[in-house]
Amino acid sequence: MTTLAILGSSRADGETARLLNAVLSHLPHAEMIDLNALQIGPYSYSHANADDDFLPLARAMLKAKAIVLASPVYWYAMSAQMKIFFDRLTDLTDPPYKTIGKQLMGKTLFTVATGGSPQAPECFLPPFEDTAGYFNMRWGGMLYRRGADSLTEQDLAEAKAFADEIKAAQTVIGAVA
Ligand SMILES: Cc1cc2nc3c(=O)[nH]c(=O)nc-3n(C[C@H](O)[C@H](O)[C@H](O)COP(=O)(O)O)c2cc1C
Repeated sequence: MTTLAILGSSRADGETARLLNAVLSHLPHAEMIDLNALQIGPYSYSHANADDDFLPLARAMLKAKAIVLASPVYWYAMSAQMKIFFDRLTDLTDPPYKTIGKQLMGKTLFTVATGGSPQAPECFLPPFEDTAGYFNMRWGGMLYRRGADSLTEQDLAEAKAFADEIKAAQTVIGAVA
């Protein structure tokens, strides 16, 4: 696996999944994980959820060079599923899992998003880009499209171009997997 895509939407066959799948169709070595299929509890200061599916997912991230986080815009922000995942990244900032967090360095983070508006709200993107920076990951950029029942020729062309950027990130010198 060279690319790991993590989908955080309230539906596995929705508009975000459609756009993400259009990107992944150009990436034969990509793997996709739907957060709805995992049991990941909210961040706990006492690490009460340490045995849930978060740490296996974090370890799967280490096997990829590029990580794609896909979320719809729900109320100007990432989905609740994706936010819980983000909060749990906190587990990787302290012992004993800090070593996992350190190994995210050099990987490239991308975002795929859909929303009801022609553009994503300005407040949507910064948590993705800033979190990449926090973990010393490269920021690859965001593909955002207005959600629709089907993808236009232009959507498909942009998905292909975005996949090409992900492919390029897979060959970045220093990217470890
Ligand atoms: C709970 C909820 C909140 C939403 N909030 C916004 C929003 O704040 N801004 C926006 O542009 N679209 C909003 N939408 C529209 C979705 O972002 C859009 O339909 C998206 O493509 C849905 O993706 P999905 O099929 O993966 O859920 C919202 C939809 C839902 C269900």
